[in-house]
Amino acid sequence: MGHTDTIDGKKIAAEVRAKVAEGVKALQASKGVTPGLAVILVGTDPASQVYVRSKGKAAGECGLNSWQFDYDEDVDPKVVFDKIAELNADENVHGILVQLPLPKQFDPDQVIEAIHPDKDVDGFHPVNMGRLLSGLPGLRPCTPSGCMELIDHTNTRLEGAEAVVVGRSNIVGKPVAVMLLERNCTVTICHSRTEELPHVIGRADIVIAAVGRPEFIEGEWIKPGATVIDVGMNRKENGKLCGDVGFEAASGRAAHITPVPGGVGPMTIAFLLKNTLQAAEQLSGAR
Ligand code: GUN
Repeated sequence: MGHTDTIDGKKIAAEVRAKVAEGVKALQASKGVTPGLAVILVGTDPASQVYVRSKGKAAGECGLNSWQFDYDEDVDPKVVFDKIAELNADENVHGILVQLPLPKQFDPDQVIEAIHPDKDVDGFHPVNMGRLLSGLPGLRPCTPSGCMELIDHTNTRLEGAEAVVVGRSNIVGKPVAVMLLERNCTVTICHSRTEELPHVIGRADIVIAAVGRPEFIEGEWIKPGATVIDVGMNRKENGKLCGDVGFEAASGRAAHITPVPGGVGPMTIAFLLKNTLQAAEQLSGAR
């Protein structure tokens, strides 16, 4: 079996962030504008608190302004909608992110649609999803963009390749499938009801695993020489983090594979900052 390359997401994310920091300086020099990211967190979910804190920290390190707005678990949705309206109108704010999941009194689709599409740095607004599907410029979801950047850092050929996406969420599965199609892959989207999943995975030159189930995709299913991007972030019974792919067996077969943690995770935050810079450039007329 050939040599397996473990894709270093931390290093590649640091390169993306360094480019963002350069772009921030250029925008300050040309327009006197510092990109600003506003993050809204409702409730006390520990994982969400960790994510939101690391987003704020990374923003500061790249020279962006960032603000965090915290609300109690039982907040009246009107309070949050009023804050979103205020941030939509605030010219110092170029990116607005509402951390998901939200408590049950919220309809997440209504919250996403309340954010101005040009400040929707998650790329979740139907306008941005529609732009992506239509091949138009716009803000694109961060994790799928991060997956594509990781693939581009390997020598994987996309044109004509068989790409299999496992998972069909609006956050990862659907948008990454569109991005792979845009790059001329032959794309198959699988999910929990797919029959013969091992057979479908076995055809794939590129696997994107985004089902959210620990080691759901067995390493033995992977085609020798494939590129495997594991978006999963699951906790095993013993408390250890693991992905959606059985890493041990898969890394004996794949040509390139992302680790969990240290693969896709750091890329999501890097692309959030890149999207905030892009939003600031567009809103200030620099681009
Ligand atoms: N919760 C988990 N991932 C994400 C993300 O990418 N964006 C937002 N807003 N919430 C999340």
